Amino acid sequence: MELTSKIIFVTGGGSGIGLELTRQLAALGNTVIICGRDAAKLAEAERETGAQAIVGDVTRGQDQERILSDIEAQHGRLDLLINNAGIFLAYDFSSDPDTLHKIESEIAINAVAPLTLTRRALPLLEKSVQPGVLFIGSGIAFVAAPGTPVYSGTKALIHHVAQTLRHQLQPHGITVFEALPPVVDTDMATVLKSDNFKKMKPADLVRDILEGLRRNQTEMLLGQSRQIKWMSRIAPAFLFRQFAKTEFH
Ligand SMILES: NC(=O)c1ccc[n+]([C@@H]2O[C@H](COP(=O)([O-])OP(=O)(O)OC[C@H]3O[C@@H](n4cnc5c(N)ncnc54)[C@H](OP(=O)(O)O)[C@@H]3O)[C@@H](O)[C@H]2O)c1
Repeated sequence: MELTSKIIFVTGGGSGIGLELTRQLAALGNTVIICGRDAAKLAEAERETGAQAIVGDVTRGQDQERILSDIEAQHGRLDLLINNAGIFLAYDFSSDPDTLHKIESEIAINAVAPLTLTRRALPLLEKSVQPGVLFIGSGIAFVAAPGTPVYSGTKALIHHVAQTLRHQLQPHGITVFEALPPVVDTDMATVLKSDNFKKMKPADLVRDILEGLRRNQTEMLLGQSRQIKWMSRIAPAFLFRQFAKTEFH
């Protein structure tokens, strides 16, 4: 996929990996639209990158529709949808007083929203000559991580859906990509205490993702994620024990 003069929508583009995607894609001459819930953070990202910021919560159907209609009104098509927004919640399932809310919000943001948004975006993607959808998954899709009871399951779901949609959307000319990062040095990863993980720099990660998009590499195993996938096949119990040792702040 060529990465210039495209209309690209990055969810959660106001910080972390989404902001770095926005920086690098805007610098290549693409029109980038970003969304998030925090208006001040988005305004700062808009000022820095020249992206168009729209405040919106990806879990709300009305917000999804409003943002997509704005994109249609202003640009008439969508070339690449990047489902990046996500949260990572480490807690004890039995003792945390907020467990019920955490279960629902993590599944809503990480698993349901990328799928409902992708479904709603299909008519706009079909107006592009070379449309694509990129899911930002995670290497943790290949191992259940006990400290974060639901997160790894949401990324496993994305890993499966990326494969099923790749098959189903291919006749529509839509290429479905999935990038599976390792631990990346963003706000999300500040809760991790473990030394087992080397944090990848967002700029290096995004450079590799853009290279993968250019080469039409539909499944991108980045950094240590390649080893995690491999270990999950040959030594799953060992891998699980390693992840069970992860400590959080
Ligand atoms: N960092 C890592 O180690 C790592 C590793 C593998 C995969 N990933 C994945 O990479 C993606 C980006 O993570 P990150 O590290 O960049 O995290 P981050 O720095 O915490 O950024 C997450 C972004 O998502 C947005 N967001 C969260 N909930 C949202 C909602 N309901 N509606 C709209 N936007 C929402 C946030 O903006 P608002 O708060 O303003 O809404 C924020 O801009 C996630 O899918 C994550 O699971 C991260």
